[in-house]
Amino acid sequence: TGKFSYDPGYTATGSCKSKITYIDGEQGVLLHRGYPIDELAEQSDFLEVSYLLLHGELPNAAERDRFVNTITKHTMVHEQINYLYRGFRRDSHPMAVMIGVVGALAAFYHDTTDIDDAKQRMIASHRLIAKMPTFAAMAYKYSIGQPFVYPRNDLTYAENFLHMMFAVPCEDYQINPIHARAMDRLLILHADHEQNASTSTVRLAGSSGANPYACIAAGIATLWGPAHGGANEAVLQMLEEIGTVESISTFIGRAKDKDDPFRLMGFGHRVYKNYDPRATVMRETCHEVLDDLGLSDELLKIAMELERIALEDKYFVERKLYPNVDFYSGLILQALGIPTHLFTVIFALARTVGWVAQWNEMIEDPEQKIGRPRQLYTGPAQRSFVPLSERA
Ligand code: CMC
Repeated sequence: TGKFSYDPGYTATGSCKSKITYIDGEQGVLLHRGYPIDELAEQSDFLEVSYLLLHGELPNAAERDRFVNTITKHTMVHEQINYLYRGFRRDSHPMAVMIGVVGALAAFYHDTTDIDDAKQRMIASHRLIAKMPTFAAMAYKYSIGQPFVYPRNDLTYAENFLHMMFAVPCEDYQINPIHARAMDRLLILHADHEQNASTSTVRLAGSSGANPYACIAAGIATLWGPAHGGANEAVLQMLEEIGTVESISTFIGRAKDKDDPFRLMGFGHRVYKNYDPRATVMRETCHEVLDDLGLSDELLKIAMELERIALEDKYFVERKLYPNVDFYSGLILQALGIPTHLFTVIFALARTVGWVAQWNEMIEDPEQKIGRPRQLYTGPAQRSFVPLSERA
Protein backbone atom coordinates (compact mmCIF):
# COMPACT_ATOMS: atom_id res chain seq x y z
CA THR A 1 0.00 0.00 0.00
CA GLY A 2 3.01 2.26 0.40
CA LYS A 3 1.79 3.70 3.71
CA PHE A 4 2.08 0.65 5.90
CA SER A 5 3.05 -3.00 5.67
CA TYR A 6 0.73 -5.93 6.24
CA ASP A 7 2.21 -7.93 9.12
CA PRO A 8 -0.29 -10.31 10.76
CA GLY A 9 1.01 -11.46 14.15
CA TYR A 10 3.56 -8.60 14.05
CA THR A 11 6.39 -10.99 13.26
CA ALA A 12 8.45 -8.24 11.64
CA THR A 13 7.25 -5.14 13.49
CA GLY A 14 9.30 -3.50 16.24
CA SER A 15 6.67 -1.83 18.40
CA CYS A 16 9.01 -0.08 20.84
CA LYS A 17 12.57 0.52 21.99
CA SER A 18 13.41 -1.33 25.18
CA LYS A 19 16.40 -1.65 27.53
CA ILE A 20 14.94 -4.46 29.63
CA THR A 21 15.27 -7.86 27.96
CA TYR A 22 17.39 -9.10 25.07
CA ILE A 23 16.64 -12.34 23.25
CA ASP A 24 18.66 -13.94 20.49
CA GLY A 25 16.32 -16.72 19.44
CA GLU A 26 18.75 -18.26 16.96
CA GLN A 27 21.49 -18.60 19.61
CA GLY A 28 19.18 -19.39 22.52
CA VAL A 29 20.25 -16.32 24.54
CA LEU A 30 18.10 -14.45 27.07
CA LEU A 31 19.50 -11.46 29.00
CA HIS A 32 17.78 -9.22 31.54
CA ARG A 33 19.43 -5.78 31.59
CA GLY A 34 22.48 -7.59 30.16
CA TYR A 35 22.63 -10.45 32.69
CA PRO A 36 22.22 -14.02 31.36
CA ILE A 37 19.07 -15.73 32.62
CA ASP A 38 20.92 -18.81 33.88
CA GLU A 39 23.24 -16.67 36.08
CA LEU A 40 20.23 -14.85 37.50
CA ALA A 41 18.32 -18.08 38.12
CA GLU A 42 21.28 -19.70 39.84
CA GLN A 43 22.76 -16.78 41.80
CA SER A 44 19.99 -14.31 42.43
CA ASP A 45 16.42 -14.43 43.72
CA PHE A 46 13.09 -13.25 42.42
CA LEU A 47 12.87 -9.93 44.25
CA GLU A 48 16.41 -9.01 43.25
CA VAL A 49 15.57 -9.81 39.63
CA SER A 50 12.39 -7.77 40.01
CA TYR A 51 14.45 -4.79 41.18
CA LEU A 52 16.80 -5.28 38.24
CA LEU A 53 13.95 -5.37 35.73
CA LEU A 54 12.27 -2.31 37.24
CA HIS A 55 15.33 -0.15 37.89
CA GLY A 56 17.95 -1.33 35.40
CA GLU A 57 20.67 -2.34 37.89
CA LEU A 58 21.11 -5.01 40.54
CA PRO A 59 20.45 -3.46 43.96
CA ASN A 60 23.22 -2.90 46.52
CA ALA A 61 22.60 -4.28 50.02
CA ALA A 62 20.71 -1.20 51.27
CA GLU A 63 18.62 -0.90 48.10
CA ARG A 64 17.82 -4.59 48.28
CA ASP A 65 16.65 -4.38 51.91
CA ARG A 66 14.51 -1.35 51.16
CA PHE A 67 12.92 -3.02 48.14
CA VAL A 68 12.21 -6.28 50.00
CA ASN A 69 10.66 -4.28 52.87
CA THR A 70 8.51 -2.25 50.52
CA ILE A 71 7.19 -5.30 48.70
CA THR A 72 6.60 -7.13 51.97
CA LYS A 73 4.65 -4.15 53.33
CA HIS A 74 2.24 -4.32 50.38
CA THR A 75 1.43 -8.06 50.44
CA MET A 76 -1.84 -7.67 52.37
CA VAL A 77 -4.97 -7.02 50.36
CA HIS A 78 -7.93 -4.86 51.33
CA GLU A 79 -10.48 -6.85 53.35
CA GLN A 80 -13.25 -5.85 50.93
CA ILE A 81 -11.45 -7.88 48.27
CA ASN A 82 -12.52 -11.02 50.15
CA TYR A 83 -16.07 -10.22 49.07
CA LEU A 84 -15.02 -10.05 45.45
CA TYR A 85 -13.74 -13.62 45.71
CA ARG A 86 -16.90 -14.73 47.45
CA GLY A 87 -18.95 -13.47 44.50
CA PHE A 88 -17.38 -16.07 42.22
CA ARG A 89 -18.46 -19.68 41.83
CA ARG A 90 -16.02 -21.95 43.66
CA ASP A 91 -15.31 -23.80 40.43
CA SER A 92 -14.45 -20.64 38.46
CA HIS A 93 -11.21 -20.81 36.51
CA PRO A 94 -8.71 -18.90 38.70
CA MET A 95 -7.50 -16.89 35.70
CA ALA A 96 -11.03 -15.48 35.34
CA VAL A 97 -10.92 -14.58 39.04
CA MET A 98 -7.48 -12.97 38.68
CA ILE A 99 -8.59 -10.78 35.77
CA GLY A 100 -11.49 -9.61 37.94
CA VAL A 101 -9.61 -8.90 41.17
CA VAL A 102 -6.56 -7.27 39.57
CA GLY A 103 -8.77 -5.09 37.36
CA ALA A 104 -10.75 -4.15 40.47
CA LEU A 105 -7.61 -2.82 42.21
CA ALA A 106 -8.13 0.46 40.37
CA ALA A 107 -11.30 0.85 42.40
CA PHE A 108 -9.31 0.46 45.64
CA TYR A 109 -6.32 2.66 44.87
CA HIS A 110 -7.46 5.95 43.44
CA ASP A 111 -4.20 7.43 44.73
CA THR A 112 -2.02 5.71 42.13
CA THR A 113 -3.82 6.25 38.87
CA ASP A 114 -1.96 9.43 37.81
CA ILE A 115 0.34 7.72 35.37
CA ASP A 116 2.39 10.86 34.73
CA ASP A 117 3.66 10.82 38.31
CA ALA A 118 6.71 8.50 38.53
CA LYS A 119 6.26 8.05 42.29
CA GLN A 120 2.66 6.95 41.92
CA ARG A 121 3.66 4.61 39.11
CA MET A 122 6.27 2.98 41.34
CA ILE A 123 3.80 2.55 44.23
CA ALA A 124 1.32 0.92 41.84
CA SER A 125 4.11 -1.33 40.52
CA HIS A 126 5.11 -2.38 44.04
CA ARG A 127 1.50 -3.07 44.96
CA LEU A 128 1.00 -5.28 41.93
CA ILE A 129 4.20 -7.29 42.50
CA ALA A 130 3.41 -7.67 46.21
CA LYS A 131 -0.25 -8.59 45.95
CA MET A 132 -0.15 -11.09 43.12
CA PRO A 133 0.98 -14.05 45.31
CA THR A 134 -1.72 -13.17 47.84
CA PHE A 135 -4.36 -13.03 45.07
CA ALA A 136 -3.15 -16.28 43.50
CA ALA A 137 -3.20 -18.14 46.83
CA MET A 138 -6.63 -16.69 47.65
CA ALA A 139 -7.97 -17.94 44.32
CA TYR A 140 -6.70 -21.42 45.22
CA LYS A 141 -7.98 -21.40 48.80
CA TYR A 142 -11.37 -20.19 47.63
CA SER A 143 -11.59 -22.95 45.02
CA ILE A 144 -11.02 -25.66 47.65
CA GLY A 145 -13.21 -24.08 50.31
CA GLN A 146 -10.43 -23.34 52.81
CA PRO A 147 -10.04 -20.03 54.67
CA PHE A 148 -7.71 -17.43 53.18
CA VAL A 149 -4.24 -17.40 54.75
CA TYR A 150 -2.74 -13.99 55.51
CA PRO A 151 0.77 -13.21 54.23
CA ARG A 152 3.71 -13.54 56.64
CA ASN A 153 6.33 -10.81 56.62
CA ASP A 154 9.15 -13.00 57.95
CA LEU A 155 9.18 -15.18 54.83
CA THR A 156 10.74 -14.66 51.41
CA TYR A 157 8.51 -13.95 48.42
CA ALA A 158 8.47 -17.59 47.25
CA GLU A 159 8.15 -19.01 50.78
CA ASN A 160 5.30 -16.67 51.57
CA PHE A 161 3.47 -17.77 48.45
CA LEU A 162 3.84 -21.48 49.38
CA HIS A 163 2.73 -20.63 52.93
CA MET A 164 -0.43 -18.84 51.74
CA MET A 165 -1.15 -21.73 49.36
CA PHE A 166 -0.62 -24.67 51.67
CA ALA A 167 -0.86 -23.59 55.33
CA VAL A 168 -4.09 -24.49 57.12
CA PRO A 169 -5.10 -22.93 60.45
CA CYS A 170 -5.15 -26.21 62.38
CA GLU A 171 -1.80 -27.63 61.23
CA ASP A 172 1.86 -26.72 61.36
CA TYR A 173 3.09 -26.12 57.82
CA GLN A 174 6.84 -26.45 57.23
CA ILE A 175 8.24 -24.90 54.07
CA ASN A 176 10.58 -27.24 52.21
CA PRO A 177 13.63 -25.12 51.17
CA ILE A 178 14.07 -27.13 47.92
CA HIS A 179 10.48 -26.37 46.99
CA ALA A 180 10.85 -22.69 47.88
CA ARG A 181 14.01 -22.48 45.76
CA ALA A 182 12.27 -24.24 42.85
CA MET A 183 9.35 -21.81 43.08
CA ASP A 184 11.73 -18.85 43.22
CA ARG A 185 13.58 -20.09 40.12
CA LEU A 186 10.36 -20.69 38.28
CA LEU A 187 9.34 -17.10 39.04
CA ILE A 188 12.71 -15.74 37.84
CA LEU A 189 12.48 -17.73 34.61
CA HIS A 190 9.04 -16.33 33.84
CA ALA A 191 9.67 -12.75 34.99
CA ASP A 192 10.01 -11.12 31.56
CA HIS A 193 10.29 -12.09 27.94
CA GLU A 194 10.27 -8.82 25.99
CA GLN A 195 7.40 -8.12 23.59
CA ASN A 196 5.34 -11.32 23.86
CA ALA A 197 1.56 -11.16 23.40
CA SER A 198 0.66 -10.30 27.01
CA THR A 199 3.42 -7.70 27.42
CA SER A 200 2.50 -6.10 24.11
CA THR A 201 -1.09 -6.03 25.34
CA VAL A 202 -0.04 -4.28 28.56
CA ARG A 203 1.89 -1.70 26.53
CA LEU A 204 -0.97 -1.23 24.07
CA ALA A 205 -3.52 -0.84 26.86
CA GLY A 206 -1.17 1.51 28.71
CA SER A 207 -0.51 3.59 25.60
CA SER A 208 -4.01 5.03 25.90
CA GLY A 209 -3.24 6.27 29.42
CA ALA A 210 -5.27 3.51 31.10
CA ASN A 211 -4.51 2.90 34.78
CA PRO A 212 -1.87 0.25 35.63
CA TYR A 213 -4.24 -2.19 37.31
CA ALA A 214 -6.48 -2.28 34.24
CA CYS A 215 -3.41 -2.74 31.99
CA ILE A 216 -2.12 -5.69 34.03
CA ALA A 217 -5.61 -7.24 34.02
CA ALA A 218 -5.46 -7.03 30.21
CA GLY A 219 -2.07 -8.76 30.31
CA ILE A 220 -3.50 -11.54 32.48
CA ALA A 221 -6.37 -12.00 30.01
CA THR A 222 -3.92 -12.39 27.14
CA LEU A 223 -1.67 -14.75 29.06
CA TRP A 224 -4.61 -17.10 29.62
CA GLY A 225 -4.53 -18.36 26.03
CA PRO A 226 -3.14 -21.89 25.48
CA ALA A 227 -0.61 -20.67 22.88
CA HIS A 228 0.91 -18.36 25.52
CA GLY A 229 0.69 -18.84 29.29
CA GLY A 230 -1.71 -21.74 29.13
CA ALA A 231 0.98 -23.92 27.59
CA ASN A 232 2.29 -25.59 30.78
CA GLU A 233 -1.25 -26.55 31.73
CA ALA A 234 -1.66 -27.95 28.22
CA VAL A 235 1.64 -29.88 28.60
CA LEU A 236 0.36 -31.70 31.67
CA GLN A 237 -2.97 -32.48 30.01
CA MET A 238 -1.09 -33.81 27.00
CA LEU A 239 1.21 -36.01 29.13
CA GLU A 240 -1.84 -37.41 30.91
CA GLU A 241 -3.53 -38.04 27.58
CA ILE A 242 -0.43 -39.87 26.28
CA GLY A 243 -0.54 -41.93 29.48
CA THR A 244 2.26 -44.44 28.80
CA VAL A 245 5.73 -44.35 27.23
CA GLU A 246 4.50 -46.90 24.62
CA SER A 247 1.88 -44.48 23.26
CA ILE A 248 4.38 -41.69 22.57
CA SER A 249 5.04 -42.67 18.94
CA THR A 250 1.31 -42.39 18.12
CA PHE A 251 1.25 -38.83 19.44
CA ILE A 252 4.47 -37.91 17.66
CA GLY A 253 2.84 -39.16 14.46
CA ARG A 254 -0.24 -37.04 15.16
CA ALA A 255 1.92 -33.95 15.81
CA LYS A 256 3.50 -34.34 12.36
CA ASP A 257 0.22 -34.96 10.57
CA LYS A 258 -0.91 -31.69 8.99
CA ASP A 259 -4.54 -32.88 8.89
CA ASP A 260 -4.50 -33.40 12.65
CA PRO A 261 -4.68 -30.18 14.73
CA PHE A 262 -2.72 -31.87 17.57
CA ARG A 263 0.60 -30.19 18.41
CA LEU A 264 3.19 -31.29 20.89
CA MET A 265 2.57 -28.88 23.74
CA GLY A 266 5.71 -27.38 25.24
CA PHE A 267 7.61 -27.61 21.97
CA GLY A 268 8.42 -24.75 19.65
CA HIS A 269 8.62 -21.04 20.21
CA ARG A 270 7.93 -17.99 18.10
CA VAL A 271 11.35 -16.53 18.94
CA TYR A 272 13.61 -19.41 20.05
CA LYS A 273 14.71 -21.49 17.13
CA ASN A 274 17.25 -23.13 19.42
CA TYR A 275 17.12 -24.63 22.94
CA ASP A 276 15.19 -22.20 25.17
CA PRO A 277 17.85 -21.17 27.79
CA ARG A 278 15.13 -21.14 30.43
CA ALA A 279 14.28 -24.76 29.65
CA THR A 280 17.81 -25.86 30.63
CA VAL A 281 17.47 -24.39 34.15
CA MET A 282 13.87 -25.62 34.48
CA ARG A 283 14.96 -29.12 33.51
CA GLU A 284 17.62 -29.19 36.30
CA THR A 285 15.19 -27.77 38.85
CA CYS A 286 12.57 -30.29 37.81
CA HIS A 287 14.94 -33.15 38.57
CA GLU A 288 15.94 -31.61 41.94
CA VAL A 289 12.33 -31.38 43.07
CA LEU A 290 11.39 -34.84 41.88
CA ASP A 291 14.51 -36.35 43.50
CA ASP A 292 13.65 -34.62 46.77
CA LEU A 293 10.14 -36.01 46.71
CA GLY A 294 11.47 -39.44 45.82
CA LEU A 295 9.07 -39.50 42.91
CA SER A 296 9.81 -41.31 39.75
CA ASP A 297 6.79 -39.87 38.15
CA GLU A 298 5.34 -41.71 35.15
CA LEU A 299 4.58 -38.36 33.57
CA LEU A 300 8.22 -37.35 33.94
CA LYS A 301 9.27 -40.57 32.19
CA ILE A 302 6.92 -39.77 29.33
CA ALA A 303 8.24 -36.21 29.25
CA MET A 304 11.89 -37.32 29.10
CA GLU A 305 11.20 -39.85 26.37
CA LEU A 306 9.16 -37.32 24.40
CA GLU A 307 12.00 -34.85 24.68
CA ARG A 308 14.54 -37.44 23.50
CA ILE A 309 12.49 -38.48 20.46
CA ALA A 310 11.56 -34.93 19.47
CA LEU A 311 15.19 -33.79 19.62
CA GLU A 312 16.18 -36.56 17.17
CA ASP A 313 13.16 -36.66 14.90
CA LYS A 314 13.67 -35.04 11.47
CA TYR A 315 10.32 -33.19 11.60
CA PHE A 316 11.18 -31.41 14.86
CA VAL A 317 14.86 -30.90 14.05
CA GLU A 318 14.13 -29.32 10.65
CA ARG A 319 11.56 -26.96 12.15
CA LYS A 320 13.80 -26.21 15.15
CA LEU A 321 11.09 -27.24 17.59
CA TYR A 322 12.88 -27.54 20.93
CA PRO A 323 11.26 -27.99 24.34
CA ASN A 324 10.34 -24.60 25.80
CA VAL A 325 10.27 -23.49 29.44
CA ASP A 326 6.68 -24.61 29.89
CA PHE A 327 7.52 -28.16 29.04
CA TYR A 328 9.24 -28.51 32.45
CA SER A 329 7.51 -25.89 34.56
CA GLY A 330 4.25 -27.85 34.55
CA LEU A 331 6.02 -30.93 35.94
CA ILE A 332 7.62 -28.87 38.73
CA LEU A 333 4.36 -27.21 39.68
CA GLN A 334 2.58 -30.52 39.76
CA ALA A 335 5.28 -31.99 42.01
CA LEU A 336 4.91 -29.01 44.37
CA GLY A 337 1.24 -29.88 44.74
CA ILE A 338 -0.11 -27.03 42.66
CA PRO A 339 -3.24 -27.97 40.75
CA THR A 340 -3.10 -27.72 36.96
CA HIS A 341 -5.70 -25.00 36.64
CA LEU A 342 -3.48 -22.72 38.76
CA PHE A 343 -0.39 -23.00 36.55
CA THR A 344 -1.15 -19.97 34.39
CA VAL A 345 -1.91 -17.94 37.51
CA ILE A 346 1.64 -18.59 38.71
CA PHE A 347 2.98 -17.56 35.33
CA ALA A 348 0.92 -14.34 35.68
CA LEU A 349 2.30 -13.66 39.13
CA ALA A 350 5.87 -14.05 37.87
CA ARG A 351 5.27 -12.01 34.71
CA THR A 352 3.68 -9.12 36.61
CA VAL A 353 7.11 -7.64 37.27
CA GLY A 354 7.95 -7.79 33.55
CA TRP A 355 4.64 -6.18 32.71
CA VAL A 356 5.07 -3.32 35.17
CA ALA A 357 8.72 -2.75 34.14
CA GLN A 358 7.69 -2.57 30.47
CA TRP A 359 4.70 -0.38 31.27
CA ASN A 360 6.89 2.11 33.19
CA GLU A 361 9.45 2.12 30.39
CA MET A 362 6.73 2.81 27.82
CA ILE A 363 5.33 5.75 29.77
CA GLU A 364 8.79 7.26 30.23
CA ASP A 365 9.58 6.90 26.50
CA PRO A 366 9.15 10.32 24.84
CA GLU A 367 8.67 8.64 21.44
CA GLN A 368 5.76 6.53 22.61
CA LYS A 369 2.40 7.16 20.96
CA ILE A 370 -0.96 5.55 21.42
CA GLY A 371 -0.73 2.06 19.87
CA ARG A 372 -2.89 2.00 16.81
CA PRO A 373 -2.19 -0.76 14.24
CA ARG A 374 -3.58 -0.42 10.74
CA GLN A 375 -5.46 -3.08 8.78
CA LEU A 376 -5.90 -4.40 5.28
CA TYR A 377 -9.62 -4.07 4.63
CA THR A 378 -10.99 -7.10 2.73
CA GLY A 379 -14.75 -6.54 3.20
CA PRO A 380 -17.35 -5.41 0.65
CA ALA A 381 -17.02 -2.12 -1.21
CA GLN A 382 -19.54 0.61 -0.40
CA ARG A 383 -23.17 -0.44 -1.10
CA SER A 384 -26.65 0.87 -0.33
CA PHE A 385 -28.73 -0.27 2.62
CA VAL A 386 -31.31 -2.96 1.69
CA PRO A 387 -34.69 -2.65 3.49
CA LEU A 388 -35.77 -5.84 5.30
CA SER A 389 -38.70 -6.44 2.88
CA GLU A 390 -36.29 -6.55 -0.08
CA ARG A 391 -33.71 -8.92 1.45
CA ALA A 392 -33.55 -12.47 0.07
N1 CMC B 1 4.08 -29.57 17.41
C1 CMC B 1 4.08 -29.92 16.11
N2 CMC B 1 4.36 -29.09 15.10
C2 CMC B 1 4.65 -27.82 15.41
C3 CMC B 1 4.67 -27.38 16.75
C4 CMC B 1 4.38 -28.29 17.76
N3 CMC B 1 4.38 -27.92 19.04
N4 CMC B 1 5.00 -26.06 16.78
C5 CMC B 1 5.18 -25.70 15.50
N5 CMC B 1 4.98 -26.74 14.67
C6 CMC B 1 5.16 -26.78 13.22
C7 CMC B 1 4.03 -26.07 12.50
O1 CMC B 1 2.99 -26.98 12.17
C8 CMC B 1 4.75 -25.54 11.29
O2 CMC B 1 4.96 -26.61 10.39
P1 CMC B 1 4.93 -26.35 8.79
O3 CMC B 1 6.05 -25.39 8.52
O4 CMC B 1 5.13 -27.71 8.23
O5 CMC B 1 3.57 -25.79 8.51
C9 CMC B 1 6.13 -25.15 11.81
O6 CMC B 1 6.33 -26.00 12.94
C10 CMC B 1 6.24 -23.69 12.26
O7 CMC B 1 5.18 -23.45 13.18
P2 CMC B 1 4.48 -22.03 13.38
O8 CMC B 1 3.11 -22.27 13.92
O9 CMC B 1 4.61 -21.23 12.13
O10 CMC B 1 5.41 -21.41 14.46
P3 CMC B 1 5.06 -20.17 15.35
O11 CMC B 1 6.34 -19.49 15.63
O12 CMC B 1 3.96 -19.36 14.79
O13 CMC B 1 4.45 -20.87 16.66
C11 CMC B 1 4.14 -21.69 18.84
C12 CMC B 1 5.06 -20.93 17.87
C13 CMC B 1 4.74 -21.63 20.25
C14 CMC B 1 2.75 -21.03 18.88
C15 CMC B 1 4.03 -23.17 18.35
O14 CMC B 1 5.30 -23.76 18.28
C16 CMC B 1 3.10 -24.01 19.24
O15 CMC B 1 1.88 -24.01 19.05
N6 CMC B 1 3.68 -24.75 20.26
C17 CMC B 1 2.90 -25.52 21.20
C18 CMC B 1 2.32 -24.61 22.26
C19 CMC B 1 3.36 -24.12 23.23
O16 CMC B 1 4.16 -24.88 23.77
N7 CMC B 1 3.34 -22.80 23.49
C20 CMC B 1 4.23 -22.17 24.47
C21 CMC B 1 5.13 -21.19 23.87
S1 CMC B 1 6.36 -20.64 25.02
C22 CMC B 1 5.53 -19.85 26.26
C23 CMC B 1 5.52 -18.37 26.19
O17 CMC B 1 6.60 -17.75 25.99
O18 CMC B 1 4.43 -17.82 26.40
